[in-house]
Amino acid sequence: MTSAILAEDLVKTYGRVRALDGFGLDVPEGKVLALLGPNGAGKSTAVRVLTTLLRPDAGRAEIMGVDVVRDPTAVRRMIGVTGQQTSVDAQLTGRENLEMFGRLSRLSRRAARARADELIERFALTEFASRPSRTYSGGQRRRLDLAASLIAGPPVVFLDEPTTGLDPRSRFGLWESVAELAREGRTILLTTQYLEEADNLADTVTLVDHGRVVAQGTPDELKALAGSGVLEVVVRSADMLEKTERIVEAVATGRTEVSERLLRVTAPVPDQADLLGEVMHSLGAAGVRLAGFSLRRPTLDEVFLTLTGEPETGGVR
Ligand SMILES: Nc1ncnc2c1ncn2[C@@H]1O[C@H](COP(=O)(O)OP(=O)(O)OP(=O)(O)O)[C@@H](O)[C@H]1O
Ligand SMILES: [Mg+2]
Repeated sequence: MTSAILAEDLVKTYGRVRALDGFGLDVPEGKVLALLGPNGAGKSTAVRVLTTLLRPDAGRAEIMGVDVVRDPTAVRRMIGVTGQQTSVDAQLTGRENLEMFGRLSRLSRRAARARADELIERFALTEFASRPSRTYSGGQRRRLDLAASLIAGPPVVFLDEPTTGLDPRSRFGLWESVAELAREGRTILLTTQYLEEADNLADTVTLVDHGRVVAQGTPDELKALAGSGVLEVVVRSADMLEKTERIVEAVATGRTEVSERLLRVTAPVPDQADLLGEVMHSLGAAGVRLAGFSLRRPTLDEVFLTLTGEPETGGVR
């Protein structure tokens, strides 16, 4: 398969901060990659290098086989970018913004107008298309941003935290739009803080921390990386919690959590079926009455916290 987005050994430093420190990725044509990582991990820096807005200190990057440093103009013709900050003009209306972006991508006046109409319809912007975009809500502006990035119908689309700050319904709507872009065969790289988003949209998830890739795989592979299942035992009354905790602890591979409110004991355990029988048996023998008993895969959130280690000291970067 051909790479639509390729990065190798990218380095970008700001003074003493190594925002990218040997960063690499490879997104085949038509696939969706989610770049996931904590604040300051280097996600936006990677997007800015890949979209020709920033020159790397070392390493190389290509879009559809074209080098971003050697031929930025050709690269720009193939990409659409929705940055973390909005790029639309607050004073212009939604429609004017889209037409302007169309003109900037060298569409004729007429083609720009037609394309703007199409995108207004597609992203449900009709109702406020004639209002200055400064009057838009966060979700409406995000949709306008996304529409603007698609004006020239680019085969490769970059979305930097497309749903940050959106309410669940707007987020879901945006997911639908991204899924549709993927169905059209576009290659998409999106950055996100939300594991659920990566889980929903991405073929591959790349976990980045301190400017480096710390893990990569399908959402399922990443979850398997956490190595085990999570056992959840719910008991009928609070007086059974202590016994349950002791029994679960004996087989746990990590910390056992007890919720008195939910009457629940949770712990990571090895993925072994006979172990469950054993635990069940011990609980029965100890007179614990169960309201629930399940073994589940770890969530991406649990994987994320495991793989990116302890939170950085010194607060938010
Ligand atoms: N223009 C700049 N000057 C100095 N340092 C910068 C600059 N841009 C980014 N950095 C630093 O580079 C590191 C990576 O920043 P980047 O914006 O790529 O992170 P991010 O993963 O996008 O974070 P977030 O989730 O908060 O958007 C951070 O430590 C940041 O402070
Ligand atoms: Mg960012």
